[in-house]
Amino acid sequence: MFAVRAARSARLLRRAFTTGSTNGFVGAIGNTPLIHLKTLSEKTGCTILGKAEFQNPGGSVKDRAALGVVRDAEERGLLKAGGTVVEGTAGNTGIGLAHVCRARGYRCVIFMPNTQSQEKIDLLRMLGAEVYPVPAVAFENPANYNHQAREFAEKLDNAVWTNQFDNTSNARAHYETTGPEIWEQTNGQLDAFVCATGTGGTLAGTGKFLKEKSGGKTQIWLADPPGSVLTSYISSGGKLTERSGSSITEGIGQGRITDNLATFVNDIDGAFTVPDEASISMLYQLLDNEGVYLGASSALNVAAAVELAGRLGKGKTIVTMLCDGAYRYQSRLFSKKWLETKGLTSAIPEHLKKYAVLD
Ligand SMILES: Cc1ncc(COP(=O)(O)O)c(C=O)c1O
Repeated sequence: MFAVRAARSARLLRRAFTTGSTNGFVGAIGNTPLIHLKTLSEKTGCTILGKAEFQNPGGSVKDRAALGVVRDAEERGLLKAGGTVVEGTAGNTGIGLAHVCRARGYRCVIFMPNTQSQEKIDLLRMLGAEVYPVPAVAFENPANYNHQAREFAEKLDNAVWTNQFDNTSNARAHYETTGPEIWEQTNGQLDAFVCATGTGGTLAGTGKFLKEKSGGKTQIWLADPPGSVLTSYISSGGKLTERSGSSITEGIGQGRITDNLATFVNDIDGAFTVPDEASISMLYQLLDNEGVYLGASSALNVAAAVELAGRLGKGKTIVTMLCDGAYRYQSRLFSKKWLETKGLTSAIPEHLKKYAVLD
């Protein structure tokens, strides 16, 4: 009797877990919520919406790119069962790839500059990746981590260097998923999309889809951190690549037009730079007013959406990306000492300084 009952409850439990289930880790990537940012919408008279990419199973927008480049390698026959995926990355792409590789049975090898935090190295190793920290040298130097990743893959059979910056299957992943999701979630009623770029995959892929689908009506804007050349490039119609300053944001800002960005750069409606002071202030405001705990690139994106609301006028709907949570950066972003060394303490409104709880 007990055995029969146990078998029945196991069957019911299995059914409960399979009803509405996803196809493993990769099936859980994407379809993230679009969050209405109430306070900022009221303040600007626009509808400001943030795509909650921190809800991806690997914790960031880069899960989409990771799956995109791996799928592409599989489809092109470059990667077969038991193969090796190699990438040069210091951040979220590595984490996404490590997850996707475990889920698909591939070996994952990551090259990164040896200036990166031990936490990042530890996390990648915990996710089963092999990590090689190498000297932090310029791209022109053959010892740069990207070149080492490529050479490592070239020496192996059944291995691929996924090359996130110039492999356009990264942008394609956003064209096929992020763009359509946003279009559907807004019923096609969006006036503008804005975000910062690292590889450019998110902006190029999502932007291209939204531009095409809206018949050119949806404006696509690029938001840049200080130290990036893209605002200068886009604002000058491709003539200049000036840069000034540097930024505390991670994963964004670029010194060149990557192949991913090149697929869309001429169709971007405009670009502007968001100072770190505005990003850090927004990060704390989003926590206090909306209850969302975000990394600095997301805070920059929301600050950019607010700036764009001012430029486009009231009544518009503006979408941006909430790329990842603050968990990977909290020892910096919520540290009084770190904020002081970066000269950012005064950027945080007085009543929000209570959130900087770390010394
Ligand atoms: C936290 C974060 N935000 C934004 C981006 C930029 O996305 P993309 O590479 O698609 O331009 C990245 C890229 O690594 C990132 O890690």
